Amino acid sequence: MSAKSSQGCWGKQRMDDQAQVLRRLMEKKSYIPENPPKSTRIITVTSGKGGVGKSNFTLNFALALQEMGYRVLILDADLGLANLDVLMGIRPKYNLYHMLTKRISVWDIIHESHGIQLIAGGSGLSELVAMTEKEQDRFAEQISLLHGHVDFLLLDTGAGISEQTLHFVWSSDETIVVTTPEPTAITDAYALIKSAAFGEGAAATSLPSIRLVINRITAEKEGRQTGDKMHLAARRFLQMELPVLGCVADDPSVVKAVKLQTPLLKAFPNSRAAKNIKDLALRYTSAAGAHAQDKPLPGVKGFLQSMMTWMKGADGNKLR
Ligand SMILES: Nc1ncnc2c1ncn2[C@@H]1O[C@H](COP(=O)(O)OP(=O)(O)OP(=O)(O)O)[C@@H](O)[C@H]1O
Ligand SMILES: [Mg+2]
Repeated sequence: MSAKSSQGCWGKQRMDDQAQVLRRLMEKKSYIPENPPKSTRIITVTSGKGGVGKSNFTLNFALALQEMGYRVLILDADLGLANLDVLMGIRPKYNLYHMLTKRISVWDIIHESHGIQLIAGGSGLSELVAMTEKEQDRFAEQISLLHGHVDFLLLDTGAGISEQTLHFVWSSDETIVVTTPEPTAITDAYALIKSAAFGEGAAATSLPSIRLVINRITAEKEGRQTGDKMHLAARRFLQMELPVLGCVADDPSVVKAVKLQTPLLKAFPNSRAAKNIKDLALRYTSAAGAHAQDKPLPGVKGFLQSMMTWMKGADGNKLR
């Protein structure tokens, strides 16, 4: 493997960039982002195989961004087994379903914990396609209010190649695919990425922007090898770049935090996995990361437009 093609676990950011940001974080309690996002950036977090750590990653990545001064909202978009509320130790009174059926506003279904805002999905998303056009329009109207309300909207999805997950990928500004180094997880992640790039419904002109997070690594070498394998396969067979955003250690603190129903970054901020996620978030927001682009993002409006076009053309069974 040539050094050039190596993705590494820790990206290409120079160490001094990281040190600079860390120093600033220590100097100020509240960190004002240097390159504030111009609009709400929508990031889908997904995986091929289930149970690889998407929800824990989403939650703690959100916290890491929030600690840097960004405003973050998570939408639990796992239609089958939504459980972010459990990981956050909260019991949301209302979810998306209530917004659709009880005619309450989007602000009523946002729950805050540890500075992170959460919209629980409930069965709301799966009800959407069966609703009348008027009700779907009301949904779009409410969700569009979120535009600019937060800097990042993270969608935690279910695993696998379902039509709805692919539409989340195609409708969001970018996607993070989480995998572990296990061969089964890698194979499933690759299959998902292939469908996202070339499946029926993928844009003919542009490939979706996808980055990898390799979770539960036992050694840096393992993460590097996994990243290189996937990166080279994507380049060779899919003609797409598949950068590695970062790796997260296999760390018993994650399991402990889940049991405590407290996010890892709050329960064990100095654990290895927490540090990995904080580093990863720093790298994500660095000049080489998301905000270097000046062009306006499709954001919430683009997302809704794309999702609504699909839903209105759906036959009522697509989200079931
Ligand atoms: N870095 C890690 N180190 C150790 N254990 C981990 C790590 N990440 C996740 N886990 C374990 O994996 C379990 C599943 O994680 P999580 O619920 O985040 O996965 P998921 O991909 O969201 O699952 P699903 O596909 O069911 O939505 C956690 O409860 C925890 O026990
Ligand atoms: Mg999950």
